[in-house]
Amino acid sequence: MPLPVEIWGLRMLVATAASKLAPAVFAKGVTRVTWTAVDDHAAPFAQADLVVKVKEPLPAEYPLLRPGQILFTYLHLAASRALTEALMKSRGTGLAYETIEVNRRLPLLEPMSEIAGRMSILVGGYCLAKHNGGSGVLLGGVPGVLPGKVVVLGGGASGINAARMAQGLGADVTILEVDLERMRFLDITLHTAHTLYSNEAHLLELLPTVDLLVGAVLLPGAKAPKLIRRDMLRRMRPGSVLVDIAIDQGGCAETSRPTTHDHPVFVEEGVIHYCVANMPAAYARTATQALTNVTYRYLELLADHGLAEACQQQPALVSGLNVMDGKVTHKAVAEAHGLAYAPPVLH
Ligand SMILES: NC(=O)c1ccc[n+]([C@@H]2O[C@H](COP(=O)([O-])OP(=O)(O)OC[C@H]3O[C@@H](n4cnc5c(N)ncnc54)[C@H](O)[C@@H]3O)[C@@H](O)[C@H]2O)c1
Repeated sequence: MPLPVEIWGLRMLVATAASKLAPAVFAKGVTRVTWTAVDDHAAPFAQADLVVKVKEPLPAEYPLLRPGQILFTYLHLAASRALTEALMKSRGTGLAYETIEVNRRLPLLEPMSEIAGRMSILVGGYCLAKHNGGSGVLLGGVPGVLPGKVVVLGGGASGINAARMAQGLGADVTILEVDLERMRFLDITLHTAHTLYSNEAHLLELLPTVDLLVGAVLLPGAKAPKLIRRDMLRRMRPGSVLVDIAIDQGGCAETSRPTTHDHPVFVEEGVIHYCVANMPAAYARTATQALTNVTYRYLELLADHGLAEACQQQPALVSGLNVMDGKVTHKAVAEAHGLAYAPPVLH
């Protein structure tokens, strides 16, 4: 099926790995877009007014950002002072998928959170296998043997999906939350999962019994709250697993540090940590379709009308403006780094 980019009449540069994929997958029937597949990674940054990526720029890309250019991608600036400063220095516009807010929800983060949440139970259950260093507990149990215990910290988009998968396997699931309305929703929709108010006392009580702990908390735009200190982790049984989905915002355990799909796990205090910062990359086909479903409408507006007009037509875009013209234009990002906040100026 041709992509709707047909209608734009734009010139598009498709970089690196995408250049091998995009023309084959998407270009059939596209007539009014000039595709230029480039292996030179710097070319799109040098030529494009609007750079669309999936993940945050790599350090090698920092110097490529230009004044006036719009970078539309996941930025997660609260977790990276270096990228925040690089964007400020570039005097370009950093428009972050993850802070675009509609009706108190983050629709551009949701599909990735859904994938990460569902994946967390797959990878966590695999890490629990004895040959992977795990405690040897099968999450679903079997007739005559109790199931494994899954505790999910945060019952938002990723948390509910983790809970749903774990519940589907037959595990014993508890979700810790602070939002009472959300807990009511979780309680009604997830029939066998329990909810519990999230505080340190409850966590200390639960940790010795947990087989798989999933970190899925978020304070939008801010660093993840460190809910698990090292001494708390010691209460868990050796070979238990922590999947810290929130690692892209710094992680919710003191012992968490980002890992990659090549080397996804490490052990601290006998607990296997899975802290891959880009979990959905493992299921790239599903992830690409899910991401494009939610980014496309904003991309089309930006391409057709430019930033100011696009923000006027779709005010939710304003909440995505993290850095503009050398200033931090998102309050939580400014707070995370102790930098001055300046409201976005659109003209
Ligand atoms: N590693 C990855 O590949 C990957 C992929 C997608 C999302 N993420 C990250 O996962 C995290 C969660 O994202 P989300 O979309 O589920 O967020 P969300 O906003 O939908 O849910 C977060 C939930 O955490 C709850 N919460 C806040 N403080 C809490 C506390 N102290 N105790 C318990 N719950 C608390 C909130 O009430 C909310 O319901 C984010 O950091 C996000 O960036 C990571």
